[in-house]
Amino acid sequence: MSEKTKVGVIGAGNISEQHIKAYLSNPNVELYAICDRNEERAKAKAAKHQVKNVYFNHLDLLNDPEVEAVSICTWNNSHAPISIDALRAGKHVLVEKPLCMTVEEALRVEEAVRQSGKVLQVGFVRRYGDNTQILKQFIDNGDLGDIYYAKASCIRRLGNPGGWFADKDRSGGGPLIDLGVHVIDLCWYLMGKPKVKSISGNTYARLGNRANVKNHAFYKASDYDPNLNTVEDLANAIIRFENGASLVVDVSFTLHAKQNEISVKLYGEKGGAEIEPEFAVVSEKYDTIFNLQPQVNKLTFDFAKGFQNEINHFIEACQGRKETLSPVEDGLEIMKMLCGIYESAAKGTEITIR
Ligand SMILES: NC(=O)c1ccc[n+]([C@@H]2O[C@H](COP(=O)([O-])OP(=O)(O)OC[C@H]3O[C@@H](n4cnc5c(N)ncnc54)[C@H](O)[C@@H]3O)[C@@H](O)[C@H]2O)c1
Repeated sequence: MSEKTKVGVIGAGNISEQHIKAYLSNPNVELYAICDRNEERAKAKAAKHQVKNVYFNHLDLLNDPEVEAVSICTWNNSHAPISIDALRAGKHVLVEKPLCMTVEEALRVEEAVRQSGKVLQVGFVRRYGDNTQILKQFIDNGDLGDIYYAKASCIRRLGNPGGWFADKDRSGGGPLIDLGVHVIDLCWYLMGKPKVKSISGNTYARLGNRANVKNHAFYKASDYDPNLNTVEDLANAIIRFENGASLVVDVSFTLHAKQNEISVKLYGEKGGAEIEPEFAVVSEKYDTIFNLQPQVNKLTFDFAKGFQNEINHFIEACQGRKETLSPVEDGLEIMKMLCGIYESAAKGTEITIR
């Protein structure tokens, strides 16, 4: 392998910008190629960042023997097929969250990773946040004791991004698979990745995308189109784990909530912690309760720093210097939870996971 890893970015929409900036800031990377099925977007992105090689089909990029690693920043329905193609072509893969759309797809990607021996890192970017890693040290050193309860919320009052995000065939679902994936993963990772036992979930499609609302800006897909919307607008769930711990979650694209909200909280026998909306650790010492406020640059998730950490870690993994923090096996477990919530909601009953 050359000293600098040659990277191709597949999918040149919104999130690719974070990947590209982080690759450009990493001295061990040559940003070698950009690919998007939208030719204009691919060319514009390549021109903006002075990337010489532009492709309009991921197979052409993968056929280029110079490419050693790829970021997959496309719609969710292409995550599994492009990951498998890339692994078979001998490339390392950083695939955006969610790993894919179904458990069956996740199993196929896992098999391809095993056969190729290449690195696949799932884009669980919040694991790579500085505050997450600080909190992980508290947890690993037993400061929170046994964590038996976690609670996560990611509420957008108005924030269905439209386009492919709202088309279940291309996204696999709405706020649960798009936003829930982050907060569920963060809790599960910090809880020590316990094995899931059962899930009870609900989904609602009551408000639609509320494209009628004026005077309130929100995040939109690169090809924003409010006319199609086949995804839920709210999901909630309780996940039970084999070790007795439980996780409660709710997420929305649209909801008559007073404000947007993100919260991720964990509770153990010796202490608790909040990673969102503001990093804090709660502890008891000498019969007194303490709320410890870390003196860090940002008490909430630093998006740019999180992506930089994630991409630096990926490159170190590609170069054989580190194990990835978010391997395919974890992507598979998270798919079981997401799909389990959808299944439970569709059946209207609790389901067990094997
Ligand atoms: N980690 C995060 O915090 C985060 C944030 C936003 C989006 N994402 C993920 O990133 C991915 C992309 O989201 P986005 O917001 O950038 O969407 P986007 O609509 O802005 O961009 C997606 C791009 O992918 C291209 N594309 C789709 N299928 C393709 C294919 N088969 N080959 C080549 N190009 C293809 C589209 O033309 C489009 O330009 C999604 O999986 C999303 O879940 C992650």
